[in-house]
Amino acid sequence: MRDRILIVDDKQSIIEILKTTLEGENYECVGCASGQEALFAIQRERFNLVLCDVRLPDADGMQILRDIRARHPDTSIIMITAYGSIENAIQCMKLGADDYVTKPFNLEEIRAIVAKGLEKERLRRENIALKQEVSRRYEFSSIIGKSKAMQDVFERIRRVGPTDVSILITGETGTGKELVSKAIHFNSDRAGKPFVALNCAAIPENLLESELFGHVKGSFTGAIATKHGMFEEATGGTLLLDEIGDMHPTLQAKLLRTLDESKIRRVGDTGLIPVDVRLICSTNKNLSEEVRALRFRLDLYHRIRVVEINLPPLRERREDIPLLAQHYLEKLTADHKRPIQGIEPGAMRLLMQHNWVGNVRELVNVLEQAVLLAETRTITETALGPLLGTVYAGPENYFDAEKPLKDTMGRFEREVLRRALESNGGSRKETARKLGISERTLYYKMEEYNLS
Ligand SMILES: Nc1ncnc2c1ncn2[C@@H]1O[C@H](COP(=O)(O)OP(=O)(O)OP(=O)(O)O)[C@@H](O)[C@H]1O
Ligand SMILES: [Mg+2]
Repeated sequence: MRDRILIVDDKQSIIEILKTTLEGENYECVGCASGQEALFAIQRERFNLVLCDVRLPDADGMQILRDIRARHPDTSIIMITAYGSIENAIQCMKLGADDYVTKPFNLEEIRAIVAKGLEKERLRRENIALKQEVSRRYEFSSIIGKSKAMQDVFERIRRVGPTDVSILITGETGTGKELVSKAIHFNSDRAGKPFVALNCAAIPENLLESELFGHVKGSFTGAIATKHGMFEEATGGTLLLDEIGDMHPTLQAKLLRTLDESKIRRVGDTGLIPVDVRLICSTNKNLSEEVRALRFRLDLYHRIRVVEINLPPLRERREDIPLLAQHYLEKLTADHKRPIQGIEPGAMRLLMQHNWVGNVRELVNVLEQAVLLAETRTITETALGPLLGTVYAGPENYFDAEKPLKDTMGRFEREVLRRALESNGGSRKETARKLGISERTLYYKMEEYNLS
């Protein structure tokens, strides 16, 4: 990607000269003729380098300098000062400017100073990336988390992963139970063998037994051929029984016998078949409560819960949110080929405060919406706010597996716009400003979605 340069000067002629010169060096340039405009631009976009006049009619160049430093510590800043005001230049350097040029400048000098400034910026950026890289050692396979709670989870995975003990993974929806079960499998000696997952809640009760253990031809109407069950599919590997809390008691008894004997009986079969499978169960129910309510067998509970790994809700480990957000932002921008460079501090604050009833899955969903809807190069607070209010109001309102993604996103976007307009009393100007889009874009979208 080309380096981006912001040029701030109240003289249009100077902007033009600098632009022409620097675009000649193949940089992407944006010119701002006032301090306000510049402050607005740096709030919304990322620049590799800023060339800024110290004296501006409506703002102090120093103020812009401070603002950039606060927001983008890696951006290089070069101040332009009038001939003879060297004290100004020194003060700018103290405030964190990288360099300065005095007017009148020659263009050769500008080229050299800019090249040097960009080099500095690149180094700073690499340094920040490196720090992030270091924080990635918190990551276990693809599981991210630096919180104490997640570190404990990693420790458990490391300790029990290589063994064959049965593990029960508990936690609210979206906390990463499936992810953890895969990490356990792929960090065990069984990694080269199959990992098979079966959602016990998703399969009608009368079919679950044959799904698990298989059946022989003719054992029931519809059993037109002999079929292997999941236990056999997972031979040598790991079987994940998801939503185990929803399994019917009759089947619980059969599962217990299977585990005790390490043998299965296909539906309609008389013989037993030995199986070698490592079992992981997961549930978002409170299983001990299910046991107390006599809905879950105590003996099976003990059998599957040799070790329990509990994944705490995201709202109880908020320090993991920035890492997760950064990780998924990178992944999603790459997946969707969107040039989004980061999350604004204000937007990050919103992410940190949100309640996340859908946990990490909800966070990933919100970021995906934000990436797809973004009209700026960063995720802003204004763009994110409505998403946090609406996404979990019910994806089922928007989701339709049969429809193209564009339609789903369209319905979603329409709802975001409708609510934003409503909360701004119908003012297009306010709505556009808050959503971080131009009034024209808003108008165009309102036409498209038939909103008034
Ligand atoms: N610690 C984490 N690091 C990275 N990604 C995570 C983490 N936890 C969860 N995810 C992601 O969040 C999403 C939901 O995770 P997963 O399917 O494992 O949740 P679950 O606990 O099985 O949820 P459910 O109970 O609804 O089935 C997945 O996209 C997963 O990759
Ligand atoms: Mg799951």
